[in-house]
Amino acid sequence: MKKNILIAGASGAIGREFSRFYSDDPNVEKIVTLSRKTYGFGDKKIQSIEVDYSKEGTFENLDKISQLESISTIIIATGILHTDQVKPEKSIDNINFESLRDVFQVNVFGPILLVKKLLPLIKKSGGVKIVFLTARVGSISDNELGGWYSYRSSKSALNMMIKNLSIELKRANKENIVIGIHPGTVKSHLSEPFLRNVKHNIFTPRKSVELMTQVISKISQKDSGKCFDFLGKVIDP
Ligand SMILES: NC(=O)c1ccc[n+]([C@@H]2O[C@H](COP(=O)([O-])OP(=O)(O)OC[C@H]3O[C@@H](n4cnc5c(N)ncnc54)[C@H](OP(=O)(O)O)[C@@H]3O)[C@@H](O)[C@H]2O)c1
Repeated sequence: MKKNILIAGASGAIGREFSRFYSDDPNVEKIVTLSRKTYGFGDKKIQSIEVDYSKEGTFENLDKISQLESISTIIIATGILHTDQVKPEKSIDNINFESLRDVFQVNVFGPILLVKKLLPLIKKSGGVKIVFLTARVGSISDNELGGWYSYRSSKSALNMMIKNLSIELKRANKENIVIGIHPGTVKSHLSEPFLRNVKHNIFTPRKSVELMTQVISKISQKDSGKCFDFLGKVIDP
């Protein structure tokens, strides 16, 4: 059966590449892309909808997809580490209310409220894979460097949302699977200011998406609630 896919953050480096990947997949019938500005590739199977997590009422725009009968995969590739106003904190001295609020709004509140809005569609579908882009730095046990208070803790909070949601959606349908995935270090607007300090491999968005789509295609119910890296290795909470 042909699949319908939803990708949030389709204007970002990773979300854009996911959109391309599924756009080229003949088994995919329709792709709904969400971004702050409508975004497509001239592909007729893409429906682009504006969603900005910082705007109240933004999810009402999703009423436009109510005609969709089912969804098989939801990929949430939104996220911020820095903006004009937000700088990742090196020390507790740098923490301020506005940065914490902005980072949690985009990295935690937006993604989970999006899934809430999609619940009717999820419930009428015969099992959905929901994939949140998380980050290894959200792992509490892996944290040896400190810093980046807002980003790290927002991803830890997101990981808890993933676990909670996996439990609830399993009750609704055993075929529902919810995971977090770490894309590796990927060249993008988000990572760009920090890449010169990176000692390990830096992926192109395409390479990262090639690896992550392999992981996504293999996950099963026993994996629900967990976070994986781009090779499918579990990241400890
Ligand atoms: N790149 C890496 O090395 C790396 C590593 C670990 C985890 N990740 C995670 O991977 C995901 C994708 O990151 P990326 O590297 O592709 O970054 P990116 O290119 O900066 O993309 C981020 C996406 O989030 C969207 N976004 C930002 N603020 C938003 C808001 N208020 N409302 C709705 N959407 C908003 C952006 O929209 P606009 O285009 O409109 O700004 C863009 O689509 C993030 O969750 C990130 O934390 C990335």
